[in-house]
Amino acid sequence: MKAIVYTKYGGPEVLQVKEIDKPSPKDDEVLVKVYAASINDWDWGLLQGDFINRLLNGLTKPKKKILGSDVAGRIEAIGKNITRFKTGDDVYGDLSGSWGGFAEYVCAPEKVLALKAASMTFVEAASIPQAAMLAVQGLIDKGKIHPGQKLLINGAGGGVGTFAIQIAKQYGVDVTGVDSIHKLDMLRLLGFDHVIDYTREDFTKNDIQYDLILDVKTNRSIFDYTRALKPNGVYVTVGGSIARLLQALLLAPWISLIHKKHIRIVALKPSKDLLYMNDLFAAGKIKPVMDGPYTLDEIDKAFSMFAKAEHKGKIVITM
Ligand SMILES: NC(=O)c1ccc[n+]([C@@H]2O[C@H](COP(=O)([O-])OP(=O)(O)OC[C@H]3O[C@@H](n4cnc5c(N)ncnc54)[C@H](OP(=O)(O)O)[C@@H]3O)[C@@H](O)[C@H]2O)c1
Repeated sequence: MKAIVYTKYGGPEVLQVKEIDKPSPKDDEVLVKVYAASINDWDWGLLQGDFINRLLNGLTKPKKKILGSDVAGRIEAIGKNITRFKTGDDVYGDLSGSWGGFAEYVCAPEKVLALKAASMTFVEAASIPQAAMLAVQGLIDKGKIHPGQKLLINGAGGGVGTFAIQIAKQYGVDVTGVDSIHKLDMLRLLGFDHVIDYTREDFTKNDIQYDLILDVKTNRSIFDYTRALKPNGVYVTVGGSIARLLQALLLAPWISLIHKKHIRIVALKPSKDLLYMNDLFAAGKIKPVMDGPYTLDEIDKAFSMFAKAEHKGKIVITM
């Protein structure tokens, strides 16, 4: 089978399309013929080999040599302990931790897969798992979003933000999106009530306060975010600078006690809410925003685009 392999850390240029053996499922795995996969920020971190990802995947060179966690495809074979799926089922999910999705076939444990909605294409399905789960778990599980709130999404034009706005709109909230200028028209079309170009305006310094902030960048002091929250407001981060996240973690109890404002961090539960996404999709309430699809041979182009943050929503690759 064809797969995108990397044997050393680096930029998109270290990715190579290679012919390798097709994997066989273990007893508790299924073999998926992958039709589409999408790029996540985590793939980018693993490709570059930043400090945290080297701890996960090898200090000097990558142990797992095929990236890709978000996949959509058809089950071609099942292990003997599989109970939820059968051969021929169309599935999607997030293989974070085992990866291997940027290939024509991948083996996956059944717990990280869900049947995809019949009306969803494989390309649409591949764009959903990680970004949409971070949006759902950030807004609903941690943020306790409810009608009438004023919400701000920081880093609104990428994968998480473009799902988050569509989920948030189910709750009748007023939503502000923050991103760079070339994404603001797209944000308005998606339903953001207000948009801010972060290169021209700092939302933590304009005296506007929010009930809920969902942040995919976390690059400021936690006190800046606290200032932008109303009393009893909630700041939810899905990721960003490690130093800023540590600061948020350490100071959250004190900020809650003294300022009555709440700081929460999402720890991704992969694939947990895919059936909810199926329901939203089938009801026409979610439409993934995507760049691409790119072919396997265009993987370096797709990653270069991701690295420069030129993409809107998710970048999808077809196999
Ligand atoms: N919590 C967990 O367990 C977990 C698991 C996996 C991933 N993650 C995290 O989830 C996040 C992934 O988000 P994503 O998929 O939406 O990323 P993405 O597609 O790269 O989108 C990020 C957006 O933020 C914009 N941006 C860049 N700098 C900004 C700034 N200073 N202020 C406001 N916006 C800015 C980018 O556009 P421009 O660059 O054009 O401005 C881009 O549109 C990452 O932080 C990742 O670490 C968390």
